[in-house]
Amino acid sequence: MPSRILRKRRLIEGQTTELVIEAPHIAAKAKPGNFVILRVWEEGERIPLTIADADTGAGTITLVFLLMGKTTAHLDTLEAGDDILDLCGPLGRPTEIHKLDGPVICVGGGTGIAAMHHIAKGHHAAGNHVVTIIGARCEDLLLFRDELCSFCPEVLISTNDGSCGRQGFVTDLLVERLTEDKTVAEVVAIGPVPMMRAVAEATRPFGVKTTVSLNSIMVDGIGMCGACRVSVGGETKFACVDGPEFDGHQVDFAGLAARLTSFKEQERLSYEEFKK
Ligand code: FES
Repeated sequence: MPSRILRKRRLIEGQTTELVIEAPHIAAKAKPGNFVILRVWEEGERIPLTIADADTGAGTITLVFLLMGKTTAHLDTLEAGDDILDLCGPLGRPTEIHKLDGPVICVGGGTGIAAMHHIAKGHHAAGNHVVTIIGARCEDLLLFRDELCSFCPEVLISTNDGSCGRQGFVTDLLVERLTEDKTVAEVVAIGPVPMMRAVAEATRPFGVKTTVSLNSIMVDGIGMCGACRVSVGGETKFACVDGPEFDGHQVDFAGLAARLTSFKEQERLSYEEFKK
């Protein structure tokens, strides 16, 4: 059913946009880790977007997306007051959140920071000590810093060029923290596949539970089409119904990366056509 965009905010010019959408039925049930699938126009493809925030009182959900192809470019043409044609959700298993014996470290990269924000908030609400680590190429590309600082006691930042926080990668800060603090109960990572893979490899020697949220290609989002299949611990799983969160130490990241690029040429041609 159509859902109205109430607010639109450009987080990074020409790259990342935030939409606050009127969707009371989704907001009432949305939990950290859930996602929605949306369609922008009648013949359009269905794309999954993780819910970055939900406000039950206001009946809204917040979505953040990266302009990376025809569908997101089309979505970005919509303004406050416009409707999204179809919005289906909340989908996927929510993040397992309960009171932990030690801190939880939430790591986010790129637009994954927005999705990680919802999970970090959930852990904070459950009474856990939340450490967030966010990273980007440079300071201008860091998302949700103020939002995270508003509730999170420790927000650690890394940038590749050193323009903010520590120069380097999120994994540098993560390894440092895990070396200093043996009480960390869990690490959660959301972001580009290479980043989640690097986080999983960084935590493996420490034996710390590591959860990653997989951004597979999806079509129906309800376990029928098989488009979102991933290999976890040698078994085929469907990210939409078995995930999207999985044990990062068990995920076949190489297989995931290969599947994500299977339609790259078609996506490029479609985007070029749209831009004409
Ligand atoms: Fe179709 Fe998951 S998106 S099975």
